[in-house]
Amino acid sequence: MAKIISDPHQTHINQTLIDPTPADLLTTHPYMTLGSSGLMLENVSLKRVADNVGTPCWVIGGGVIKERLHRLKAAMYTVGLNVHFHYAVKANDHYAILSLIKNEGYGADIVSFGELSRTQKAGIPAQKVVFSGIGKTTVDIEQALGLGIGQINVESAEELAIISAIATRMGKIAPIALRINPDIDAQTHSKITTGLSHNKFGIPFVDAIALYAHAARLPGINLLGFATHIGSQILTMDPYRAAYVRMASLVRAAREQGLSVRVVDCGGGLGIAYNTLPEAQPEDLAKVIHTTLGTLDVQIALEPGRWVVGPAGVLLSRVILRKEQGMAVPFLIIDSAMNDLLRPSLYEAWHGILPLSAKAFQQPLEKTHVVGPVCESSDCFAQNRLLPRLQRQDYLAILDTGAYGSVMSSTYNSRPLAAHVLIENSCWKIIRERQTIEDLWRGELSPLH
Ligand code: LLP
Repeated sequence: MAKIISDPHQTHINQTLIDPTPADLLTTHPYMTLGSSGLMLENVSLKRVADNVGTPCWVIGGGVIKERLHRLKAAMYTVGLNVHFHYAVKANDHYAILSLIKNEGYGADIVSFGELSRTQKAGIPAQKVVFSGIGKTTVDIEQALGLGIGQINVESAEELAIISAIATRMGKIAPIALRINPDIDAQTHSKITTGLSHNKFGIPFVDAIALYAHAARLPGINLLGFATHIGSQILTMDPYRAAYVRMASLVRAAREQGLSVRVVDCGGGLGIAYNTLPEAQPEDLAKVIHTTLGTLDVQIALEPGRWVVGPAGVLLSRVILRKEQGMAVPFLIIDSAMNDLLRPSLYEAWHGILPLSAKAFQQPLEKTHVVGPVCESSDCFAQNRLLPRLQRQDYLAILDTGAYGSVMSSTYNSRPLAAHVLIENSCWKIIRERQTIEDLWRGELSPLH
């Protein structure tokens, strides 16, 4: 096993210590297995998928998602918590995945009318949907109230006034929770930290009780309780504990003023094992919620995204060519790029990379830079990565791309959106066709043509 990397957040491509080898990654990624036909996910040969569908191609394992949905539920129920689960749609919004999530009894956490519409297409009852986000438009709010949304998480005093006015005009009652910014450092990458006072999210902790009391008096409002979400890819429990202690103090303070608090929405954020560090354990989160909020007789809500779908997905890619650099580390130029998987360019996020061929796992390792063809130096998936010698036409899989992968893709450099495949019961199906070249300019108009 290679030396464990000391970067606690595993965010950087340019590691100074030794990266895990492909063999290490197989150990830390139990969903990926090696058979005679090479790398497999849920008993499906990824080479077979790549041969049939082409690359780049997202593949996601429905069985993995179901297993993780069950584990999360079991963790909460085992400690006796009364939890409503709202999957964070932004992590992966394909409606086949939303249908799968609905079938497991989960509701949804959404941030736009588009996401709300996807939940409706997947058949998730609006009553089981929570609407988060700092900039809900009038149309967003009207549509949500019209559909009978379960909860709107209000992120500012200004938004509270707008929702009250819209609900009153529509003759509706808006079920709301106040999203509080607890000013707690989630100890994750700065770009995905949301619970510090300088972040744009939530109502400042110091204003929470006064605004809660005000909300209780407003027309068109059904005040449910408090919400918080301190960030994403959180690997330790301390930030959660600190945030929920603060939320518990708000529940008590509100009740002392005679105000009812029925719900505490604890947000999402559970981190996964991109590298060799272990992922966050839902059982640990359950203990933290139980000790901080367990005696308050409130309905707990959770908004998990990454933890549920992240480890279930891979991005299949093919080597376009291997660019030698004399004595320097060679570049492996692959057919996936930053337009497909943005995380490495945007956050310098570290993703495991494995060859698909079984033989490659037996070969000696060498340092390689793995890059995409896009005209930006940040279009880089890995620097100095230990991989077997890969050649033109070889396949590889970029791991842990089930969350914040395909949803963040663009068509930059006029590269069509990749195909998407779902595995269920050891069978694979295309759930999104690869975009065609003509799709790229659909809707564009030229007065000069
Ligand atoms: N609830 C709210 C209000 C959120 O804003 C988010 C994520 C979640 C729940 C789900 O968090 P999760 O369980 O997935 O950590 N694109 C970034 C992640 C951005 C997360 C945004 N909010 C990345 O690729 O790392």
